[in-house]
Amino acid sequence: MRHLVTVHPDYFPMYTVAGKWKHGGEAWTNWCEGFLGGQLWLMFAYTGDLWWRDSAVHYSRLIEHRKTDDSVHDLGFLFWSTWRRWYDYAPNDSINAVLIEAGKTAGSRFRENGQYLPSFVSAESSFIDIMMNVGIIFYAAEQSGDAALAQSAARHCHTTRRYLVRGDGSTAHEGLFNTDTGDFLRASTHQGWRDDSSWARGLTWAIYGFGTAYQFTRGIRFLQTAEACAAYYIKHTATHGVPPNDWLEPDPADPFESSAAAIAASAFLQLAELATDAVRARMYQQYAFTILDRLLQPDFLALETPQWEGILKQGTYHQRLGLGVNESVMWGEYFFLEALLSALNILTDGGGAVSARPGG
Ligand code: GLY
Repeated sequence: MRHLVTVHPDYFPMYTVAGKWKHGGEAWTNWCEGFLGGQLWLMFAYTGDLWWRDSAVHYSRLIEHRKTDDSVHDLGFLFWSTWRRWYDYAPNDSINAVLIEAGKTAGSRFRENGQYLPSFVSAESSFIDIMMNVGIIFYAAEQSGDAALAQSAARHCHTTRRYLVRGDGSTAHEGLFNTDTGDFLRASTHQGWRDDSSWARGLTWAIYGFGTAYQFTRGIRFLQTAEACAAYYIKHTATHGVPPNDWLEPDPADPFESSAAAIAASAFLQLAELATDAVRARMYQQYAFTILDRLLQPDFLALETPQWEGILKQGTYHQRLGLGVNESVMWGEYFFLEALLSALNILTDGGGAVSARPGG
């Protein structure tokens, strides 16, 4: 991170190529600009060193203009990881106003016809990933007393639960809707193996996102959905807890997708806090620790890989487009650090200076 900030200032990396962050590879979409700033906030939380805080403030400010960007579905990814963390340290109205505006922008994409938030791809498309972006909408609604906005976020969650989460707890990446009638047409995928298969990262977005929806609403069906997705993850993943890019792909290009595992670790730790049953809570926590133990081995952790600029190897961004396959990816780094800080807080019996999750 220090290298990125000092050698490539103001650069927003997405995935490495042969272990290097700076390259001319395509982005597909612009959803990662909060993850470096988010990691800088996490490093400040862990160390208390003001260099990390000043860098985090700088990278947060660099994305402020995106608060009105209604061309993507990802403002939660951008602002929850940065400005929401900043607000934890500096709870003042001007920072909160940016969060509220970003949340309102994200909510403004809601389509009455079909009751969903569309993906950046087109009006007829919704993604499972959008579950990670409803938190900031619920937050903006709560802070501004906008009940209609909260309703939109809740309706999107119900639509996603109904059409993108399957009976066995697996998830489709994309749902396609008739934009005139709002009718659901079919499931599809961009980053998974097949339309009817199970893209691992999408499932982890669902575990985390439905957990967050439950946290804001206390709607028990959201918790049940997060738990159903978590059960699918555990059942279909080897005992070490690191899945492939898609569980159903017979011959994956890489046996592991480490970023999905990192997101899962953090999502399972969140679920451990939310679970209504102590035995299950303990099981989720243990499972998250199993994942982290595996990711801390040198085939994933790049500590012993000279010249590798990322933290976590063996992540994949977009297998079909050949983008960031078997590389480090920015969101993998971010959620890995978040999960590690959560784990440290647990191991030190709540001794962490601040919660690892924004607003926690
Ligand atoms: N676009 C979100 C993801 O690649 O997971």
